[in-house]
Amino acid sequence: MSINEQKMFQVDFDLPQSNNVCSTSVAWAQVPNEPSAAERDALIARIKALLIEKKALLVAHYYVHPDLQDLAEATGGIVSDSLEMARFGRDHPAQTLVVAGVRFMGESAKILSPEKTVLVPDLRAECSLDLGCPIDEFSAFCDAHPDRTVVVYANTSAEVKARADWMVTSSIALKIVAHLKEQGKKIIWAPDRHLGTYIQKQTSADMLLWQGSCIVHNEFKAIELENLKAKHPDAKVLVHPESPDSVVQLADVVGSTSAILNGPAQFPDTHTFIVATDNGMLHQLRQKYPTHSFIEAPTAGESATCKSCAHCPWMAMNDLRGVVEVLEKLGTGYNEITIDPAIAERAKLPITRMLDFAAAEKAKAQQTEQSKEQSDFQPNIGPA
Ligand code: 13P
Ligand code: SF4
Repeated sequence: MSINEQKMFQVDFDLPQSNNVCSTSVAWAQVPNEPSAAERDALIARIKALLIEKKALLVAHYYVHPDLQDLAEATGGIVSDSLEMARFGRDHPAQTLVVAGVRFMGESAKILSPEKTVLVPDLRAECSLDLGCPIDEFSAFCDAHPDRTVVVYANTSAEVKARADWMVTSSIALKIVAHLKEQGKKIIWAPDRHLGTYIQKQTSADMLLWQGSCIVHNEFKAIELENLKAKHPDAKVLVHPESPDSVVQLADVVGSTSAILNGPAQFPDTHTFIVATDNGMLHQLRQKYPTHSFIEAPTAGESATCKSCAHCPWMAMNDLRGVVEVLEKLGTGYNEITIDPAIAERAKLPITRMLDFAAAEKAKAQQTEQSKEQSDFQPNIGPA
């Protein structure tokens, strides 16, 4: 038995609907229909006007509808991973933020900028990791291990963040856990068991893992991926670490959504990539590398009763009509993120810790780059 297995804490995520039907069916039933071409154009024009009129900013995650991603970029907002969404919203002067993503992303924005109005297109946009880590059980888990530093993933509620010492996103998790290990800390990790396993294997840190999972990434299948790789022997594989360990082991790049977006640049001679993350990511990949081909990693065998589509239903709840509605109703409290101020204040500590750590890492990297440039520069002085 590996160290990791010995330390598993058995709290399985209770799927919202497990009576032999696809657990995401309830969420999928709430996903809006696509607008007609004419309605779509009108909605896009209306959002552009409303963002200016209301002095609001649209911030979008890579997994939301391509129209929202394009709109965020075209209107001075951002499309990014969850770390950059939080940072960008905090640092931008706009007093109203529209967060196209899932609830925890809106909550992170509100925690970091309590004075701003944070709106989400659909308040029902949840995340299975967040749902699978209720505060009471999690708090009892932490209380049972008071000697451990509590590290939680961004995909958690404000209450869970308020119980944590550190919050991390997938783009910085490895570095923060390695840093804590160097300091001799033992860790409680929640809620994603696959990301926790990946980090534990990379850092050998002493980690107790909560047993949550992402309903999208948990579905990627290693055997099917091996078959797909055999059909495309020259392809490289890009994997988000919320995927099972057996899938991560087949990866050429493992990392956050931003790392996946930058992945193809590491392989100048490769033009085919298999992508194991939410298929919303393909929009940015295809825009950034128009001559490459991107194939979705397989989510289930042909015999499976519920074939997942590698798309998060909660991310799919974000649509153009929802953005228009929240902006038109600004000031009424409609779809506004609110958090108990005492919880928000406590939850800000682990997020700020992460952002400060990320800023220090960035400064260190810039300094190393500058020193390298200086040592590479050979001034033309001295005898010829
Ligand atoms: P990133 O932090 O990599 O953007 O991931 C967020 C997420 O929800 C992945 O499923
Ligand atoms: Fe949560 Fe998975 Fe959806 Fe990301 S893709 S928001 S981890 S359910």
